[in-house]
This record gives sequence, structure tokens and C-alpha cells, in this order.
Amino acid sequence: MSALFEPFKLKGIALRNRIAVPPMCQYSAIDGVTNRWHWIHYPSIARGGVGLVIVEATGVSADGRITLGCTGLWHDGQIEGMARIAAEIKAEGAVPGIQIGHAGRKASANLPWEGDDHISAGDPRGWETISPSAIPFGGGLPRMPREMTIADIERVKADFVAAAKRALAAGFKWLELHFAHGYLAQSFFSVHANHRTDQYGGDWRGRGRFLSETLDVNRRANGTPYRRAKGTPCQDGGTLM
Ligand SMILES: Cc1cc2nc3c(=O)[nH]c(=O)nc-3n(C[C@H](O)[C@H](O)[C@H](O)COP(=O)(O)O)c2cc1C
Repeated sequence: MSALFEPFKLKGIALRNRIAVPPMCQYSAIDGVTNRWHWIHYPSIARGGVGLVIVEATGVSADGRITLGCTGLWHDGQIEGMARIAAEIKAEGAVPGIQIGHAGRKASANLPWEGDDHISAGDPRGWETISPSAIPFGGGLPRMPREMTIADIERVKADFVAAAKRALAAGFKWLELHFAHGYLAQSFFSVHANHRTDQYGGDWRGRGRFLSETLDVNRRANGTPYRRAKGTPCQDGGTLM
């Protein structure tokens, strides 16, 4: 029989099989708060028999949302609705997971069915975006981001930690930090988006610093033990920072 339907264990979390539903934005929250749409949608997926359901990219701060319809965990009032989702996914036999992230220069976007582009400059519904460098994403996302200061970087790392704590408080057992898709963390790693000359730019170590530090503070604050020590050799001949 295919291993797909075999149980899977990782760090004490047991999945009933190896089918995982990735995070998929629903664009249906108001002020980052979930509602009946999410409360029904996610447990329904779990009821289909999958092992893991990962709730959509959830903003660690209001300015880190992709759109005004995205979910958030930047204040305690957002925990209750998320707890409902986590409990119902669990009741259906799947492990509740969630992805948290900051959209960086791709934030302040319209809903997909309203253009999927940046909210127009001057539209009061939009907000200032931030990025490692003042370089716009381009295409339908032309808004010029503000280059992040060190204080901004520290703030966003702390926001990741606080949002992760709220996710744990809501009952999620599986946490994904969104480091892809051109959002903030990936912008740091990108040679195209990151032209910084300080410790957060330059070679891959510098460009990777925001990602490794964000992981690091989360692991320390939220109690996940290190699996690989600093100094562990990497494939390219370097070592883990
Ligand atoms: C409607 C929709 C929303 C998505 N939202 C997210 C998201 O919140 N976070 C994320 O990492 N990927 C998101 N994705 C990407 C999917 O999670 C997935 O990685 C992608 O569809 C590729 O998976 P596949 O090869 O199994 O289709 C989204 C995709 C779709 C279609």
C-alpha cells in the first residue's frame, strides 16, 4: 500500500496520513478576524480525511496582510475565532496548522476578484508597505515600499514571535513561517529586492539573516528545540549561522 496513507510523526506530532492541505488565502476576514466562512471551510477540509490542514497566510501585523480580507494574529481578539478553527479541525481527526507571515512590498493589495493589484495610491484603504530596500515589486504591484530600518526589522521579528504565541494559544500544533512567494522574508533573501549594505544585505548570509533570526527568536520564545546546532556544515561548504 502507498505510504501516502501511512501515519507520519514529526517532533511528537502524529498525522493520520501524509496528505497535507497547504495554506490558501480565503480573502474573507474583516479586520483580520475570522468568521463563519473560515469556521466551516477549514473543518470541512479536515473531514475529507487529510492528515494536516494549514490555515492560510495570516498577518503578523496589520501592515503585513496581503489584502484587507486576510486573516491576522496581531492582537488577542483574533485568537478566539482561530481557536474555533483549530478545535474543529482536531475534532475531525486532522492536525491543525497555520501559516504566519508578513507580505512586505506585496502588501496593500486588492482582493483577487477586484484586480489582485496594489490598492491605488491615494486610496485611504491602502497602507505604507515595507521592504529591505525601496524597490517596488513591479507589474500590478507598483507601490514603492519604504526601506526598513533596524527598528522595523526588530519589530517584525517580535511580531512573528507574538503571532506564533497566539497561534499556539489558539490550539494550532503545526506552524509555518511564510518565507516564500515574494513576501517580506523572501525579499530579504532576493538579490533583486535586497540592495542593503548593512548586516541584512550582501552575500547569502547577510540576505538570509532576517530569515534565520526570525526562526531563531521564534524557536527560543516558543520552545521548539534546535535540531541542528550553529556551525553545522551546509551543502555549499559554509556553516549554519
Ligand atoms: C487560492 C489560493 C490561495 C493560496 N494562498 C496561499 C497562502 O496563503 N500561503 C501559501 O504559502 N501559499 C498559498 N497558495 C499556494 C498554495 O498553497 C500551493 O502552494 C500552490 O497552490 C501549489 O500547490 P500545488 O502544486 O499542490 O497546486 C495559494 C494558492 C491558491 C490557489
